[in-house]
Amino acid sequence: MPAVVIIGAQWGDEGKGKATDLLAGRIDYVVKFNGGNNAGHTVVIGDEKYALHLLPSGILTPGVTPVIANGVVIDIEVLFDELEALSARGVDVSRLKISANAHVITHYHRTLDKVTERFLGKRQIGTTGRGIGPTYADKINRVGIRMQDLFDENILRQKVEGALDQKNHLLVKVYNRRAITVDEIVDDLLSYAERLRPMVSDTALELHQALERGETVLFEGGQATMLDVDHGTYPFVTSSSSTSGGAATGSGVAPNRIDRVIGIVKAYTTRVGAGPFPTELFDASGEFLRANGFEFGTTTGRPRRCGWYDAPIARYSARINGVTDYVMTKLDVLTGLETIPVCVAYEVDGVRVDEVPVSQSDFHHAVPIYEEFPGWSEDITSARSFDELPKNARDYVLAIESMSGARISGVGVGPGRDEIVVRHDLLG
Ligand code: GDP
Ligand code: IMO
Ligand code: MG
Repeated sequence: MPAVVIIGAQWGDEGKGKATDLLAGRIDYVVKFNGGNNAGHTVVIGDEKYALHLLPSGILTPGVTPVIANGVVIDIEVLFDELEALSARGVDVSRLKISANAHVITHYHRTLDKVTERFLGKRQIGTTGRGIGPTYADKINRVGIRMQDLFDENILRQKVEGALDQKNHLLVKVYNRRAITVDEIVDDLLSYAERLRPMVSDTALELHQALERGETVLFEGGQATMLDVDHGTYPFVTSSSSTSGGAATGSGVAPNRIDRVIGIVKAYTTRVGAGPFPTELFDASGEFLRANGFEFGTTTGRPRRCGWYDAPIARYSARINGVTDYVMTKLDVLTGLETIPVCVAYEVDGVRVDEVPVSQSDFHHAVPIYEEFPGWSEDITSARSFDELPKNARDYVLAIESMSGARISGVGVGPGRDEIVVRHDLLG
């Protein structure tokens, strides 16, 4: 089972970090292929809690080689801060490899992210303000800065000049901000070059060679299907390809090498930032999910919007990503509810719709059609096999499995590393 992809099936924060950590003991490489430090993955190992943003969660497992691939955008200061913080806690980060083709987030990208959001007013996306969108925009516009540019001062200067030419007009004339000088950007980036040099390489080639040797590579997606720039709820999305196809373009590993796609879904739904969310709750049930699930962003600390499970979204994710296995997390959070509604389809302008509508307006108007399932009150956090779950919890999982487009191979019953019920081997 050499190449496996983990992706979020909803709007992020499904527990991808925990799922990666769970598998990391059996893999050789863990690859981040999209996004940047907009991601926030919390991994709990014993009494220790780790919050990872830019680095793949698999870095916590000794012996695994972590890779930041070409599809990622890198804020270098954040990179070193995260590496130092992990080192200080005894994590070996010496194996990290970074693609020479990965793009760099600079000061002007962060500034533009914040000012454009402010100018959008009520049409705001609610970005994480980390400069993600403007950096990907520069990549597509062919005025981006790549890791390899840091090793050639002349080229770097030319590229920064080219990028700032346009941006300073925008910053000064439209957004009323001060101009950013070429020198401040170039000096800042060059100050990291020597420390970065040993980490930067042709990671597409190295991953190819690892797969040829029969080693196991795990691709860890950031964000999620409904935040994907093509397949998500555009424009309320992130700016990268966070679906399984992104693992191929974002790493240079061919799609036909990918053997398995593991989708992570929460037993309910959350979203951070703006955009449509049919099953969102504004009542005490929403509060219950937020409080019980501790639904506050790992990156920005914002309270997450909460709602019931949405089966059409799971079916959509199964189809778009080719999900072979689902891991459903946070089943324990539902403990104590008398009944649990699940969205099985939508009603759009009086008509029943079983799939996620392609029209954004229709999705905005979609009203969930719910089916109700009986809840359970027993504590399930110590369950380690499916049989140990109360009957109503098992029935909830089985009902959701039948409507979500792929088998549910794992069920999370708590945040800890071992708090999971495995039904089918995820790598077998
Ligand atoms: P990611 O962005 O997909 O990696 O997810 P986050 O780390 O942002 O959010 C998931 C949160 O749920 C983290 O705080 C995890 O520790 C926690 N978590 C993961 N799985 C479970 C579970 O099965 N039960 C509970 N109660 N918490 C979980
Ligand atoms: P993980 O990997 C949840 C959301 C932001 C915003 C939109 C665009 O932890 O699941 P961006 O800064 O990317 O331009 O913001 O995407 N967003 C996330 N929401 N989890 C994430 O990552 C997210 N990364 C971005 O809240 O709505
Ligand atoms: Mg997260």
